[in-house]
Amino acid sequence: MALIMMPCLIGCPHTLNLSRYNSVIFHNPSRFQGAAMAAALASESIAVASDVPPKMKAWVYDDYGPVSVLRADDGVLVPEVEDQQVLVKVVAAALNPVDFKRRQGMFKSADSALPTVPGYDVAGIVIKVGSQVKNFKEGDEVYGDINENGLTHPKRFGSLAEYTAVEEKLLALKPQNLDFVQAAGLPLAIETAYEGLERAGFSAGKSILVLGGAGGVGSIVIQVAKHVFGASRVAATSSTGKLELLKSLGVDLAIDYTKENFEDLAEKFDVVYDSVGQGDKALKAVKEGGRVVGIWGALSPPGFVFLLTSNGGMLTKLNPFIEEGKIKPLVDPKGPFPFSQVIEAFTYLESGRATGKVVIYPIP
Ligand SMILES: NC(=O)c1ccc[n+]([C@@H]2O[C@H](COP(=O)([O-])OP(=O)(O)OC[C@H]3O[C@@H](n4cnc5c(N)ncnc54)[C@H](OP(=O)(O)O)[C@@H]3O)[C@@H](O)[C@H]2O)c1
Repeated sequence: MALIMMPCLIGCPHTLNLSRYNSVIFHNPSRFQGAAMAAALASESIAVASDVPPKMKAWVYDDYGPVSVLRADDGVLVPEVEDQQVLVKVVAAALNPVDFKRRQGMFKSADSALPTVPGYDVAGIVIKVGSQVKNFKEGDEVYGDINENGLTHPKRFGSLAEYTAVEEKLLALKPQNLDFVQAAGLPLAIETAYEGLERAGFSAGKSILVLGGAGGVGSIVIQVAKHVFGASRVAATSSTGKLELLKSLGVDLAIDYTKENFEDLAEKFDVVYDSVGQGDKALKAVKEGGRVVGIWGALSPPGFVFLLTSNGGMLTKLNPFIEEGKIKPLVDPKGPFPFSQVIEAFTYLESGRATGKVVIYPIP
């Protein structure tokens, strides 16, 4: 038996057994909304059987297609742990557009073989370590994006499952002030935000315009630009109902894209970070000598499009900013969605209207 720290989300001071964990963790997402912050630091030690079951619950698809190809499966083999990997008991997972684009077959030429368990973002507990693992031990609370390169042979066994195997270099210790739901929403988005800003040569005193400021990536770009890089001025676009949210994230100029064309503004920016795929317009909003960072679609110079590389070291580097409250995860208020509602969660994400991150919790 191994001693594992697990979150106590219902203020229960007693020791739990993992088999009881599912029934004890809240089943009412709305209740969690209020309790999440208070529970974030509450942990308790529980006894967990170190022998992992051979099979697990997971979401699976056998063919590419719409959300209807997804099915819940109780009999998926728990992935083997390679030497450099740890096995993570998934506590929460977040969805990303890459999950549904992959499922739709957009990247099938470089995909791993079907069937697929989707899911890139994970927050959970290390339950087994490979023989070469140096930095993690059983019981560590970790988070990360499980695919180093999201489009080239991403893992067959993703994070929408009870267990997932991950290279230790892709993980970091979960920030102490975040609960698992909050942590699950960060890795892919914050790594994309940071890497894009770094590639653009962003630095203190520069101005930035973030296109898609209320999305999973955009909401974090705003905060990283301001609080990690020291932006002098941050502008961002969203629809009318999300302008106040942008301001609460630190935006100096919130632009309602339903009423104004950002590319027609007199003000130009040192960097435009485009998370929407509006490359041509974005190029009109950048100062001479500036850069446009794209993460979707095409861009001509001085713009560029890049694909993130998952990197646990980057998460570790950013953890102090998170723990100091300078970067706050934004979990979509419609969630978290329980494991049984993964189809509803994907349908919502695929509407393109999500605010921040769509998180799946509890699992299963
Ligand atoms: N290259 C990479 O490494 C990489 C990494 C991560 C993501 N991506 C890609 O980047 C894109 C964004 O990802 P995400 O996770 O941020 O998506 P997301 O969370 O689903 O984005 C949803 C947000 O986009 C906003 N939005 C939609 N149309 C907009 C417009 N015309 N102007 C301003 N905001 C608009 C919506 O706000 P409103 O409701 O206000 O419209 C909504 O809040 C996806 O295509 C994804 O695949 C690429």
